[in-house]
Amino acid sequence: MRIMVWGPTRLSGQVMVSAAKNAILPILAASMLSSGTVVIKKVPAIRDVHIMMALIQQMGLEVEHAEGILTIKGTPQNILPDYDLSRQIRASFLLMGPLLARCGQAKAFLPGGCAIGTRPVDLHLKGFEALGAAIQITGGCVTATAPRLQGNYVYLDFPSVGATENIMMAAALAQGTTYIENAALEPEVVDLAAFINSMGGRVSSAGSNVIRIEGVAGLGDTAYSPIPDRIEAGTYMVAAAASGGEVIINNVIPEHLKATTAKLLESGAQVKEGPDFIKVSRGQEIKPVYIKTLPYPGFPTDMQAQFMAYLCSAGGSSIITESVFENRFMHIGQLLRMGAQITTEGRTAVIRGVPQLSGATVKATDLRAGAALLIAAITAHGQTIIEDSEHIDRGYENIVYKLNRLGANIYHI
Ligand code: UD1
Repeated sequence: MRIMVWGPTRLSGQVMVSAAKNAILPILAASMLSSGTVVIKKVPAIRDVHIMMALIQQMGLEVEHAEGILTIKGTPQNILPDYDLSRQIRASFLLMGPLLARCGQAKAFLPGGCAIGTRPVDLHLKGFEALGAAIQITGGCVTATAPRLQGNYVYLDFPSVGATENIMMAAALAQGTTYIENAALEPEVVDLAAFINSMGGRVSSAGSNVIRIEGVAGLGDTAYSPIPDRIEAGTYMVAAAASGGEVIINNVIPEHLKATTAKLLESGAQVKEGPDFIKVSRGQEIKPVYIKTLPYPGFPTDMQAQFMAYLCSAGGSSIITESVFENRFMHIGQLLRMGAQITTEGRTAVIRGVPQLSGATVKATDLRAGAALLIAAITAHGQTIIEDSEHIDRGYENIVYKLNRLGANIYHI
């Protein structure tokens, strides 16, 4: 698939943010923990969510989807997710914790997803082992077995989002209490804990570095609305600033966007926060900034590519260090095709601002790289064609429509 953009345009108006992809994916996995009926509201129509829904259906659960409302019920009948579906999203690995807890055994293929580094799953497996599971790896497939998981202390060497979530889900039905030390603090982890608790679970202190999970015998019905997508919101914030326009971004939790807001302010943009909206505008030249990606509440790695596209037109040199993932600079080659001046040394990129990017034919190598190219294309002079744009649909609901409404000349071709 391809997207065509004619630039430059100044974005203006209002945009509504959808529910968070990275909250819904673990929540969908956790719905397998319930013996009752799970209703999830405001589910966005994005590809990763559709794949996760298909996986859950293939595990034997009943899934109904109508107008953004998902109803899930049933018991998993199958402990091996489909290979073709699971290799498309790394989050398929999150099915393992709930399956293990519910069925006493779980299998998973070593994960796929965005091509951004090796992304191992050792911390997930270390957690399952600490809860008493036996782990076997053969032919790219992991099997975890434990008739009943036992609560324990789990220390994570790195505050991995996925490992924290997978262990939390497994521990929700374990015998006894689990403590995850050096847990991830991301808002999506907190949302997953709230979802588990809404089914009758006992998870406390999610959002701090030690999460306590008291195992319960079973989980029941719930109706739940996940948090808004802070990365989608951040992408529109940066797009607004990059275009030199003025945009109100609705349905946000400003607290979740502090790092993005701080860097936009530093770069000379104006950011005004309301209770559930943020207004972003920029009149003056973009000032260069220094960014290092870090686990939450640090600057999100999922906003790194978009910010780099923005800084390509700054009045000076910016530095971006990617410390969360190795090999997450694939967008640089594409930005260079549009006239950007960027050099890299290991995990650090130096971005020398140019007066204006120019349109080119480029390729979306992954989800956020694709979002970065959209931002670059809106600011660039002339026509940009973004190939492999299906990567963007993995995480942004109706992005072409939403940007069009803000005044961008953007079309699917
Ligand atoms: C989640 C997000 C992703 C985001 C990332 C970091 C979802 C579905 N995806 O991914 O969008 O970019 O958090 O904010 O929520 N690691 C290990 N061993 C492990 C697990 C992770 O070494 O067992 C490493 C990874 O290779 C990576 C780092 O830890 O370098 C962060 O990964 P993690 O926090 O687990 O990210 P994900 O949960 O995969």
